[in-house]
Amino acid sequence: MSAQEQIRRLSAPDIRARKGGEPIVCLTSYHAHTARLVDAYCDVVLVGDSLGMVMHGLETTVPVTLDMMILQGHAVMRGSKHALVVVDLPFGSYEASKEQAFASAARVMKETGCGAIKIEGGRRMAETIAFLTERGVPVMGHVGLTPQAINTIGSFRAQGRDESDWAPIEADARAVTDAGAFAVVLEAIAEPLGRRISAQIKIPTIGIGASVACDGQILVLEDMLGLSPRVPKFVKRFGDLGPSIEHAIKSYAQEVRARTFPGPEHVYPMRSGAVTELPQRGKGPSRA
Ligand code: KIV
Repeated sequence: MSAQEQIRRLSAPDIRARKGGEPIVCLTSYHAHTARLVDAYCDVVLVGDSLGMVMHGLETTVPVTLDMMILQGHAVMRGSKHALVVVDLPFGSYEASKEQAFASAARVMKETGCGAIKIEGGRRMAETIAFLTERGVPVMGHVGLTPQAINTIGSFRAQGRDESDWAPIEADARAVTDAGAFAVVLEAIAEPLGRRISAQIKIPTIGIGASVACDGQILVLEDMLGLSPRVPKFVKRFGDLGPSIEHAIKSYAQEVRARTFPGPEHVYPMRSGAVTELPQRGKGPSRA
């Protein structure tokens, strides 16, 4: 085994121990190839249920299934070797009971080999988080804007922009912490609230539209690469891949239509160097 291969994957306790230390870098990935790129620079790779919107063009994450998460979780595990891989439990796979949550989490961990799962919800999920962590399932919490609840909250609006709305969000972050989560995502909350929660709780906060004072940050990879057509305010586009992908596809189409691709360097000559005359398409020997 090479020295490179001996590098141990980060674990949930490693991430938990980073509270107040060096910022924790996280991105989403759903595929082996992007996982390889992300893995080289990130501490955590999240196989988010955002894959429903990004890969499948769904309007929300609600229709995403456990099988979809497992398939992509497996791909990300194959593509990565250093980061902690966290897989989202999708809507409907954990809310009914703590036993349902354990069955889903165990399936995800056994079938993908990932190191942790993430579930949305604060106080209402505290009992479930405690049940899972006591049984060997590291849990990342997710409070603030919880996209799986879109049908009850009505829109993907930022939370806690009036101080009078802070108390329930703070209570959610504390509940997740006390229940044993190793880290918690704070999504789309007012900046001072993100800062305050990060200072208050004992586990790392991972911000997405929260605050630079969070212990780490996460973005959806396709959003920050400039591939997603619409992105929330909190996304900074670190790349602009959309136009360069379009340019590459347009050039390919032009070259195929002009018969300039494939060129001689992209085809296999005969070993002997002998050239076999083959009839050109549409110009075969006449049957006369
Ligand atoms: O599904 C997802 O990608 C997420 C992140 C946005 C935190 O939950």
